[in-house]
Amino acid sequence: MNTLTINGADYEPSDEELGLTLMRYLREKRFLRGTKNGCEQGLCGTCTVVVDGKPLRSCRSSVEKNLGKSIITIEGMEYPDGSLHPIQRAFLDSGAVQCGFCTPGMVMSSYALLLREPAPDREAIRKALRGNLCRCTGYQQIVDAVELASRIMREQDLPVEAGCLAHDR
Ligand code: FES
Ligand code: FES
Repeated sequence: MNTLTINGADYEPSDEELGLTLMRYLREKRFLRGTKNGCEQGLCGTCTVVVDGKPLRSCRSSVEKNLGKSIITIEGMEYPDGSLHPIQRAFLDSGAVQCGFCTPGMVMSSYALLLREPAPDREAIRKALRGNLCRCTGYQQIVDAVELASRIMREQDLPVEAGCLAHDR
């Protein structure tokens, strides 16, 4: 298996690209620059993407290691018509975005959490986001946003899955 699937589309990296970190491949070869380079040392979480349903710090994993896997980035969260995923919408509505640098990583960690646990309590949300650093918001609004997204998706029976995968919407 020499391909990796990014936001529902298959790519076959060159031999040279196989040695890149997934973060550099996404940003520099696929031009998906919503995945941020905060520290490149596995410390800040801004580079988080979701791989086969689990959060991954893409600065600490090679392209080669992710062959055969399905990767969702922040660009894949919105729907084909350009509307935002409920998690993205909830971040805006809760005032959880200030400078926005941490936001893609926060949204992706939240997405992985809600995939496995659709109704997490605040403690579970804090735990899921503890590897994502934010210098601006103080975290309260971010936890509020994940709670809001969870409630809206359950009340409105919306699928948690990323917008790029929701072909029948
Ligand atoms: S850029 Fe990957 S954890 Fe900071
Ligand atoms: S909103 Fe600025 S770092 Fe989180």
